[in-house]
Amino acid sequence: MKFGLVAFVVSIVFSSTADGKKLPSFIQKCKRTDPQLNDCMKETMLKFRPHLKDGVKALKISSFNPYIVPESSASTGWMNLTFINTKLFGIPNFEIDSLKVNLDGNPVIAMTFSIPNLELSAHYRLDGKIIQYQVHAEGEYESKFNKSRFSVLIDGDKIQKDGAEYMHLHKIDFNILELPFQFLYLHNLFEGNQELTDRLNAILLEDNDIFYKDLKPLLEEIVSAFVLSIFKGPFDTFSLDELFD
Ligand SMILES: *[C@@H]1O[C@H](CO)[C@@H](O)[C@H](O)[C@H]1NC(C)=O
Ligand SMILES: *[C@@H]1O[C@H](CO)[C@@H](O)[C@H](O)[C@H]1NC(C)=O
Repeated sequence: MKFGLVAFVVSIVFSSTADGKKLPSFIQKCKRTDPQLNDCMKETMLKFRPHLKDGVKALKISSFNPYIVPESSASTGWMNLTFINTKLFGIPNFEIDSLKVNLDGNPVIAMTFSIPNLELSAHYRLDGKIIQYQVHAEGEYESKFNKSRFSVLIDGDKIQKDGAEYMHLHKIDFNILELPFQFLYLHNLFEGNQELTDRLNAILLEDNDIFYKDLKPLLEEIVSAFVLSIFKGPFDTFSLDELFD
């Protein structure tokens, strides 16, 4: 699934203080011409992981404990689904399965990564049909996933800004490779009918392909927002000469 940039701007927290910008000391700089650039970048990202929990102001990266997406929605022919205040837990434990960085062409970043225990909660609004049930509901959504895997391609262009060369990342192509549900519950699916709410939730968890198809575009939008924010913060803030040796 491909996404334009506009949807992501909201997810990046821009600090207004323009005090002397300096790369945080935990960022290990890589050499642009290093034949092992990919390995070096992978190592840099792994060292960077623990700092995601509190966010990194100098890189315009917001807190990932949890990572919050204000609102996202998806429509199919049979269902409208909206998630408000989505909270993602577990992102700072991501593992990189492969990473290719190309500063001279697209995609600039090609990465597959996994997250061992991802948790996602939100306030949901759902109108439409699940299996044969007509649902008009609003309430809390909770889910947990076993090891989930994702792939991402990010395109960009080199631009001149304040007399220096920056990498402007502008497009993300994001795919969920694996997202095995461990737990899934939509509270209040049928208001005042706990038994039916429990029964439909049990069906959805048992055979989560049913709901997954409806949920997938929403989840891709949500997860791709954090991936882009990790890269866009540093690349928007620092020139290529500042980020690389
Ligand atoms: C979804 O929302 C659209 C736009 O508001 C509406 O026209 C449509 O009927 C809704 N579909 C369902 C299944 O509720
Ligand atoms: C998911 O994780 C739970 C708890 O760790 C485990 O019991 C379950 O077997 C796992 N499911 C899959 C499909 O790996």
